[in-house]
Amino acid sequence: MALEFHAVRNHAKAADVVVSLVTTEAVSSDGAGVDPKQLANAGFEGRLAQVHSWPIDGRMSALVGVGDSDDVDMHVIRKAAAQVVRSFGSSRRVSVALPADTTVDALLAGQAVAEGAVLGSYRFDGYKSKAKPPKLKRVDVAGGSGAHAQAALDLGAAIATSQSIARDLVNEPGGSLTAPAFARRAASIARKAGVKVKVWDEAAIKKAKLGGLLGVNRGSTNPPRFVEFTYEPEGKPSSTLALVGKGITFDAGGLSIKTGQGMMTMKCDMGGAAAVVGAMSAMSAAGVTCRVRAFVPMTDNMLGGDATRPGDVLKIRNGKTIEVLNTDAEGRLVLADALSVASEGKPDAIVDLATLTGACMVALGPKIAGLMGNNDSWISQIETAGSNTGERVWHLPLPDDYKKMFESSVADMKNIAGPHGGALTAGLILQEFVGEGIPWAHIDIAGPAFTDSDDAEITKGGTGFGVRLLVDLARNFTPPT
Ligand code: BES
Ligand code: ZN
Ligand code: ZN
Repeated sequence: MALEFHAVRNHAKAADVVVSLVTTEAVSSDGAGVDPKQLANAGFEGRLAQVHSWPIDGRMSALVGVGDSDDVDMHVIRKAAAQVVRSFGSSRRVSVALPADTTVDALLAGQAVAEGAVLGSYRFDGYKSKAKPPKLKRVDVAGGSGAHAQAALDLGAAIATSQSIARDLVNEPGGSLTAPAFARRAASIARKAGVKVKVWDEAAIKKAKLGGLLGVNRGSTNPPRFVEFTYEPEGKPSSTLALVGKGITFDAGGLSIKTGQGMMTMKCDMGGAAAVVGAMSAMSAAGVTCRVRAFVPMTDNMLGGDATRPGDVLKIRNGKTIEVLNTDAEGRLVLADALSVASEGKPDAIVDLATLTGACMVALGPKIAGLMGNNDSWISQIETAGSNTGERVWHLPLPDDYKKMFESSVADMKNIAGPHGGALTAGLILQEFVGEGIPWAHIDIAGPAFTDSDDAEITKGGTGFGVRLLVDLARNFTPPT
């Protein structure tokens, strides 16, 4: 059963754990209502995610720090709430009071508590023979009990549940989440959320001449899929947003094979697709009023006997040709087809998400995604969505003069460029497949899609990075100028 959230005026009497989120100022001024000596002995100062708890009348009372009040925002509250469930997730019912002395909007704070609690209690344990069922059933959020307060909790829970769906998809091993299995699961997730789905099988993909997707799939024994999603809001929408996600269910590198170490986490190479599917499943609950279409190419990148060879030339849906000199640069090949198909519907803007380059991870590290695009007003909408949701993006350039790095002597372009600037040259190659005049942005999530350690609301494995950003982007979408 999913975690339940209730907006209440005061701490719930029936809760097993009663938690107050406190700033360092509240602790230093009056001990946040607790004997200051007790806090000093415990070294509790109210720093972010610091926990101090004690038994009282058969239940637990606790303070969880949120740091200095000036630094408290929605993202800090989300982290603190994740800490609450990490510390007290073995109880059935937890009551959380928001800090009193900050300027954070109470509704956003409530939404952040729900997000942090759902994300912090996420587990991927379906393959454990002795998995323990989750204990935590209910979180009461004290502070406001009206319909608006409840709606904010429901929104946070819905968005974070969609992010957990994306995590589940990323965490599923490549051997079980083949392209057909991914397509079936994605279709079922989306249909349950009222989204229309069309799955293209191999015959349909051949008929549509998606040469990039077919070329990457050639070394696999599993057929490819291409999945198209449509969210139609109630009423007549005035604009259409298109999403594209890289869906490489496992990236072995193809004949340009990766090292054993390099392959170890490559089930995450459909992280962009997972974020797109997760976000589509939240559109209706998040009250999105624009039309949203999504396009997801799916295949693994293997090295079967008839795999694409270095030197082979592929013809993409839009007619352009690519000489494949490194079969491990496969994301751009499948995205080229998807961007071409997305462009044919003439949406008001396109954004793609992809675990595209190790170079982007080198540049920005494990927590920040690279953002590139052809339209500054579209870029700035995405930057805003990033700062609204705490999913950080950093704008990188697409320098025109770098295009010569991927000139080919036999085809329209090569699929690789020089040794430097790999995130940018990958972005420039994608740009070749975006329809004339369509605002487009590319988010390289190679760093933040997957992590090797827990950190606040983030759990080891697939992170579901991009779901919150995409939902926020769709909720606030205006066609870029
Ligand atoms: N899926 C990888 C990129 C990646 C690396 C994602 C690490 C997540 C973590 C992508 O298909 C790839 O292999 N890219 C190559 C491109 C190169 C051959 C031009 C890379 O980045 O090395
Ligand atoms: Zn690759
Ligand atoms: Zn890849």
